Amino acid sequence: MMLHIPEVLSKAKVAELRALIDAADWVDGNETSGSQSALAKRNAQLPEGSEAAVRAGEWILDALERSPLFVAAALPQVVFPPLFNRYAGGEAFGLHVDNSIRQSRDGRTRIRTDLSATLFLTEPEDYDGGVLVVEDTFGAHEVRLPAGDMILYPSSSLHEVTPVTRGARVCSFFWIQSLIREDARRELLFQMDLAIQQLGGRVGTDAPELVSLTGAYHNLLRMWAEV
Ligand code: NI
Repeated sequence: MMLHIPEVLSKAKVAELRALIDAADWVDGNETSGSQSALAKRNAQLPEGSEAAVRAGEWILDALERSPLFVAAALPQVVFPPLFNRYAGGEAFGLHVDNSIRQSRDGRTRIRTDLSATLFLTEPEDYDGGVLVVEDTFGAHEVRLPAGDMILYPSSSLHEVTPVTRGARVCSFFWIQSLIREDARRELLFQMDLAIQQLGGRVGTDAPELVSLTGAYHNLLRMWAEV
């Protein structure tokens, strides 16, 4: 499942975050690549573990905790410390699959990458190209979102970033290990959660049928979750 999560960051927070990271030193993006993706990747990146990356990453992690849509869809167990990249002057990232296991530079975080996230930090009108294309069984999906919005997609998907031909595209990207490893199960729980919330608004959360459905949701989560 791919999910667009609007306004993870407000425009004001995006501006504050951009001021912080734009003033920092950037390095060649291949510092974080696996050997397969290094062949296809051309961009700049904020050094992992640098002061600006850590601070900006914490702002994003705080925002994610306050996003009910993110929590319901990702059922996060561990979120990898967010990283930041910038594409300009024709830079691109060819078709690839993200590494299945990701370890932070300080060795403190090692996760299985169930979900990949891209949080856009540049308005779409400020650059050309730089489309995130994600392939799944329904075809290729083109993603280009307003600053502050985020796309969540299965890390198992082939994806690419097309060349940026004008301006610069700055994004944050990171991975999530979910309590629910399998995408289909996670999607089912998400649909159930949304329906329960919508129904609760119509019939009241103490309706016996809704209490029963909520119980079934939690018991499925209990059956499938890996903690
Ligand atoms: Ni990738």
